[in-house]
Amino acid sequence: MNILIIGGGGREDAIINKLLENSEVEKIFALPGTGVKKDRVFNFDIDATDFPRIIEFCKNHIIDFAIVSPDNPLVLGLVDELEKLNILTFGPNKRAAIIEGSKSFSKELMKKYNIPTAAYQSFSDSELAIKYLDECKFPIVIKADGLALGKGVVICESKDTAKDTIIDFIDNKKFSKSSSKIIIEEFLTGFEVSILAFCDGKTLKPLVSSMDHKRIGDGDVGLNTGGMGVIAPNPYYSDKVKTYCEENIFQKTIDAMRCENREFKGCLYFGLIIENEKAKVIEYNCRFGDPEAQTVLPLLESDLLSIMMATSKGEIDKVDVKLSNKAACNLVVASGGYPTNYEKNKKITIKSLTNSKIYFAGVKQQNDQLFTNGGRVLSLTCVSDSLEDAINKVYEDVKNIDFEKMYYRKDIGQKALLNKKLGK
Ligand code: AMP
Ligand code: GLY
Repeated sequence: MNILIIGGGGREDAIINKLLENSEVEKIFALPGTGVKKDRVFNFDIDATDFPRIIEFCKNHIIDFAIVSPDNPLVLGLVDELEKLNILTFGPNKRAAIIEGSKSFSKELMKKYNIPTAAYQSFSDSELAIKYLDECKFPIVIKADGLALGKGVVICESKDTAKDTIIDFIDNKKFSKSSSKIIIEEFLTGFEVSILAFCDGKTLKPLVSSMDHKRIGDGDVGLNTGGMGVIAPNPYYSDKVKTYCEENIFQKTIDAMRCENREFKGCLYFGLIIENEKAKVIEYNCRFGDPEAQTVLPLLESDLLSIMMATSKGEIDKVDVKLSNKAACNLVVASGGYPTNYEKNKKITIKSLTNSKIYFAGVKQQNDQLFTNGGRVLSLTCVSDSLEDAINKVYEDVKNIDFEKMYYRKDIGQKALLNKKLGK
């Protein structure tokens, strides 16, 4: 079988690694791919949003199954284009990807179908938004309506910061069309949980729960990033919380999308905040998380290709999604300065990794040498019987990676371990 995958980050590397476990996979065409050579994988330097070149590529190659992985091509409707070529494709179509592409859409959906989320108002007029601040209790959260490379959310402690953010987003068009509309949302306190689930339009099968570490600095300080490390399972996702989510969030979301004639097929990511054993949705993503995928896919014991194909055919009830009882820790290694300014082209040395798998992201290969080529350069995942052991081993292995100005957080998983110690 020949498979096409759109995307080129660590998440896509994790999907590829899992697919390669299936011996029926002959070739994987990755556009643009990680740029690192791998058996059976062929990278082509075609951008994930360059639809004309992607379509041309598909016409010139035999493709049995396609996977559209990143948010941008999904929201722009690449799945629709590939389906027009009669290629069975994993990922939501444009009508369904709006669940991530427009925060005002997803907030209205949750309100209409009574799915728990933070209270909010949406605005396209900065004066009205600023006036609304008089009614707000601080902190509040301001979000750009559209995609903003993970930078469209600002937690505002004061009215002044909120006012500046509104002006920046709407009037100064910080994220161009993506911030011409904004959401002003109640600030929630609690613990964050990510749930990634395969959805076939009618029903869903979740992967192991996880906890991302979004801030750049230890102790969750500093700027938001795409994610600096993940642990799974998430100890805050108790059986009680799981039941609450099953009854109030998961199936309700799938049913709501179907009622709106926006049947969701693909991986739906629920970003949740847990407080008093109840959950509220803070965001939906229409794709696997990064680095959540690098953490939870290694804990999937069933064949990923069969699950993905069944998802796209609307037949997820026919496949088993068997999850491991083990724990995993993923640690992202970034270029110093990320998520703002960082240097590229640093020579990467990797000595033997005893316990972890490596996933490449911002890397390029010249002959047999790897160089840095992005902010989040690579990540390591260790699977073990206990979370504590997975964390210890990943931090042992990271000592075998080296490049100039490399940076990683030193505390991935510590909040989760503390929860376990407290026996919560
Ligand atoms: P999002 O892109 O919507 O996931 O937001 C990025 C991060 O901002 C989340 O992972 C949370 O840490 C934080 N966040 C978003 N919405 C809220 C909220 N209503 N209350 C508290 N924190 C939030
Ligand atoms: N790690 C968060 C995300 O992929 O959105």
